[in-house]
Amino acid sequence: MTFSHSHLLGIEPLPPSAISEILDLADQYVALNRGDMKHAEALAGLTQINMFFENSTRTQASFELAGKRLGADVMNMAMQASSIKKGETLIDTAMTLNAMHPDLLVVRHPHSGAVDLLSQKVNCAVLNAGDGRHEHPTQALLDALTIRRAKGRLHRLNVAICGDIAHSRVARSNILLLGKMENRVRLIGPPTLMPSGIADFGVEVYDDMAEGLRNVDVVMMLRLQRERMDGGFIPSEREYYFRYGLDAEKLAHAKDDAIVMHPGPMNRGVEIDGEIADDINRSVIQEQVEMGVAVRMAAMDLLARNLRARPREVMA
Ligand code: NCD
Repeated sequence: MTFSHSHLLGIEPLPPSAISEILDLADQYVALNRGDMKHAEALAGLTQINMFFENSTRTQASFELAGKRLGADVMNMAMQASSIKKGETLIDTAMTLNAMHPDLLVVRHPHSGAVDLLSQKVNCAVLNAGDGRHEHPTQALLDALTIRRAKGRLHRLNVAICGDIAHSRVARSNILLLGKMENRVRLIGPPTLMPSGIADFGVEVYDDMAEGLRNVDVVMMLRLQRERMDGGFIPSEREYYFRYGLDAEKLAHAKDDAIVMHPGPMNRGVEIDGEIADDINRSVIQEQVEMGVAVRMAAMDLLARNLRARPREVMA
C-alpha cells in the first residue's frame, strides 16, 4: 500500500496512484456490499463522527452506512440544531469532539476551507464531505468509480460537466480528478454560471449543449445550486431547461453509448428530463449512489490503516 495521507480534504493533493488505490479497494467493497454478509472489520474499535453543518441526505447516509459496514461506532451530530446556534465557533465544537477521541471525523460545511482548518486542530483523520463551493472529494471518487466500471477505463474519455459549474464543489473535484487521470473535460453552461479564471483549469468551455455534447463519452449534469446564488443567474427555470436541460434531443449529440450522471439531489424538468434520469440504458445515477458507499468504505479504510500505523500527534 502506498496511500500515505492522514486526511481526505480534497482531490487536489492526491496523486493518480492514490486515486487508483482508493478505486481498486472500493471495487472490493462493491462486491462485499452486494453479498449477504455486508460486514468487515477494517474500522472495528474506531469511532466515526459525522458533523454536517449543511443539510444532507444521501452523503450523510452513505458515510454512516460505510462506517457501520466496516465495524466503526458511528455518531451523527445534528449540527444545525446544536451548539452553533448558541454561538460556539467551529473550532470550539471540533475541539470538544476531539476530546472524546474520535478516529474519523466526516465534515460538511458551507464555507470553503473550513474542513481544512478543522483538520489542523484535531488529531484524527478528517474527511471532507463538501466544503462550500471548494471540494467534495468522495463525490468525485464515486463518479470516477462509476465511470471506470461503465467504460472499462478512466483515461482518454471525453467528459462533459453541464450546468451550474460556478457554485459546484462537485464540478471542481471532478475537473481535478478527471484531469489527473488524463481525460478531456468540457464544461457546458451559461456564462453567468461559469467560475472566473476557468481558463486555468485546462478545460474546454461551451455555452451551447449541442456543440459541447458532440461525441462525449460521459454527460455529467449538475443541480442549480440556488442556495449559493445571491442574485439572478438565470432568466427562468423554463428558459434554463430549454437551453441547458438534458433531454433526448440534446443527448443525441453525445456518443451512442454515452452514460448520464447526476450527483443528486435532482431537479427533474430543470436540469434533466425525468425520463432520461430513469432510463436504465443511459443513466448510471443509481450506480453512483451504490459506488458512493463503497468509495467511502475504501477511503476510511485507507485512512484508518495510516491512523493505526502512526503514533498520534498531541494537538494543542
Ligand atoms: C452535491 C453537494 O452537496 O455538493 N450533492 C451530494 O453530495 N450528493 C451536489 C448538490 O447538492 O447539488
